[in-house]
Amino acid sequence: MPQIINGKEISAQIKEELKEKVAAMKKEGISVCLAVIQVGDDPASAVYVGNKKKACAYIGITSLSYELPEETTQEELLALIGELNGRKDVNGILVQLPLPEHIDEDAVIRAIVPEKDVDGFHPQSVGALCIGQEGYVSCTPAGIIQLLKRSGIEIEGKECVIIGRSNIVGKPMALLLLRENGTVTITHSRTKNLKEVTKRADILVAAVGKPKMITREYVKEGAVVIDVGIHRNENNKLCGDVDYDDVAPVCSAITPVPGGVGPMTIAMLMHNCVESAALRH
Ligand code: GUN
Repeated sequence: MPQIINGKEISAQIKEELKEKVAAMKKEGISVCLAVIQVGDDPASAVYVGNKKKACAYIGITSLSYELPEETTQEELLALIGELNGRKDVNGILVQLPLPEHIDEDAVIRAIVPEKDVDGFHPQSVGALCIGQEGYVSCTPAGIIQLLKRSGIEIEGKECVIIGRSNIVGKPMALLLLRENGTVTITHSRTKNLKEVTKRADILVAAVGKPKMITREYVKEGAVVIDVGIHRNENNKLCGDVDYDDVAPVCSAITPVPGGVGPMTIAMLMHNCVESAALRH
């Protein structure tokens, strides 16, 4: 059977490291503070935001919570971001996505100063990653790199195939694997002969957004399989983009859902917040 990559355990380890770092920073008079903004009351977003605030409390990061009504205008939201940009006590600003349709998501992302862009979504953060400069990195792909490294999986020289080209996962994932000297291919909905391409992968990252789409026909024997998807199946149980029971017997390592990539996103957000506070001083 394959190595099960335990995201719950690895994220807990990262959070412990951060908790110690935050305590040490406090002794030096440096505090860490994240502003979390949610517009509207999407239930999934409320769960994510709640988990982020819980993680802050555990690590010793102050969280400022802004729960704004659905009718909030773009101007009001931009004004709040402007205020938080200027506040010396705030290190990170997170606007939970998706936003209501009447608000331009790109304008909101651009409004956050890159120094406080702990989500790593600002064009400057993405550009910096692209050309190998310092900047915040999108949390889910950054978490996947940590999962691989902390599980003893080498990336250098490996064939890495990503399924999905989103700005939040697919594209930054490609850049991060490239930075680790992987040989990287991005596939997407228009890719021809998808299975042939994914079967080349030593490391396969599935971020397609379709429950259990990736069966063993897509996977080379002995590959490492990373599942970014999170869905509810017909029995209301969580499942990923990968058909775990079908794929697990043929791969060398695999992330489960839940307990794989999911917990890493928050751990890396916390990491970015701590980094932001440390850099400011
Ligand atoms: N919505 C889904 N994932 C994310 C994330 O990582 N950050 C933010 N801000 N919103 C999200």
